[in-house]
Amino acid sequence: MAAIVVVGAQWGDEGKGKATDILGCQVDYVVKPNGGNNAGHTVVVGGEKYELKLLPAGVLSENAVPVLGNGVVINLEALFDEIDGLEARGANASRLRISANAHVVAPYHQVLDRVQERFLGKRAIGTTGRGIGPTYADKVSRVGIRVQDIFDESILRQKVTSALDVKNQILVKMYNRKAIDPERIVDYFLSYADRLEPMVIEAELELNRALDEGKHVLMEGGQATMLDVDHGTYPFVTSSNPSAGGACVGSGIGPTRITSSLGIIKAYTTRVGAGPFPTELFDKWGEFLQTTGGEVGVNTGRKRRCGWYDSVVARYASRVNGFTDLFVTKLDVLTGIGEIPICVAYDVDGTRFDEMPTSQSDFHHAEPIYETMPAWEEDITGCRTFGELPQRAQDYLNRLEELSGCRISYVGVGPGRDQTIVINDVMEA
Ligand code: GDP
Ligand code: IMO
Ligand code: MG
Repeated sequence: MAAIVVVGAQWGDEGKGKATDILGCQVDYVVKPNGGNNAGHTVVVGGEKYELKLLPAGVLSENAVPVLGNGVVINLEALFDEIDGLEARGANASRLRISANAHVVAPYHQVLDRVQERFLGKRAIGTTGRGIGPTYADKVSRVGIRVQDIFDESILRQKVTSALDVKNQILVKMYNRKAIDPERIVDYFLSYADRLEPMVIEAELELNRALDEGKHVLMEGGQATMLDVDHGTYPFVTSSNPSAGGACVGSGIGPTRITSSLGIIKAYTTRVGAGPFPTELFDKWGEFLQTTGGEVGVNTGRKRRCGWYDSVVARYASRVNGFTDLFVTKLDVLTGIGEIPICVAYDVDGTRFDEMPTSQSDFHHAEPIYETMPAWEEDITGCRTFGELPQRAQDYLNRLEELSGCRISYVGVGPGRDQTIVINDVMEA
């Protein structure tokens, strides 16, 4: 039995989709425990590129059952568009299962996301505009709509009506928008009921039974630690808990069952949207990482902000997620750049911070303290073992391992499924 949690260690887009895709071939279930269609995972299989937003990358694995867990917020229109798009390309999404307890994104959540961002002006979060924050806010405020509500029309109507009682006041009086007719929303949800029903399961029961039978389950976190509403750079975060603990809550798998906590981390750093980012580069190296790394958001098409590897962030992520292993991705992007800076600590107005500052203001003022390592010149995209990597690439990884508080078990040397070096196999943990 293996229960593996895959977690982004930085600000997202570390290559979780690729990592899940590789491990997905060896597991029975791939569960998405948090987030919604704000995610964007690019997975390259046999030269074919797939872009997933809401579905877990496990949907591309031959045998794994993909599951949207209770912690996910589901936009049903986006869900079926994505399924249809995949099936049109020959992929098989028929195994997909959905927790009856997952919440659904209503059209009014998307409207609220956009108007709230506009209202914030310069202080905007830079959300994906997918209604994620307002849907989670309703969940916590106990006025959300769950998947199971769609199969009880009278309950659905009651819940939608009561949610809109307040929201329409806000939309009309605060944001100068038109009120939304509850019946339109009820019809919207009901229109998906027949297609949705066969997919709905008691996910927590099925997943735990699978583990009891010795099967393997992978939890594929969306977003990342630094976007976690508790552990991230609040308020510039998403509205869920993408960290390892959140994967337990969002899937109904208890912490005692987890066998590996695998942190996915780029060999440099990127971020989309607003918020602090100490190692961000505004010079030719930022542009280099952006173009050579192909750093464009899958979801919104925004260019990703780029910077050097931040080992303060890595240590912090290792700590709050209890990482057992790291998967360093995109090492190939750093080939031939001369010298590679690594952030080892921060300087905040003359004070050195070796660990993440607790105060948001300190983090906003953090200046990276760098050490540098020489880069390798050789093409590493064909390397398949650690020993095949040039000595300088090995030295860089060894230094990252020392600084990051966790052993490195996988290294990505290209976007393809096979462009991976396995040092320790988490399936054998
Ligand atoms: P996710 O959101 O964490 O799944 O990551 P994204 O898919 O948004 O972004 C990661 C990008 O890096 C994708 O385009 C991947 O195909 C690509 N990628 C993943 N691993 C590697 C790697 O080791 N080398 C290179 N060059 N690209 C990679
Ligand atoms: P994956 O799974 C990178 C960012 C948004 C914004 C903030 C809040 O591909 O790593 P939201 O719409 O969630 O309320 O936006 O979070 N964000 C991501 N950034 N990768 C993601 O997902 C992200 N999901 C949300 O850009 O700054
Ligand atoms: Mg992404």
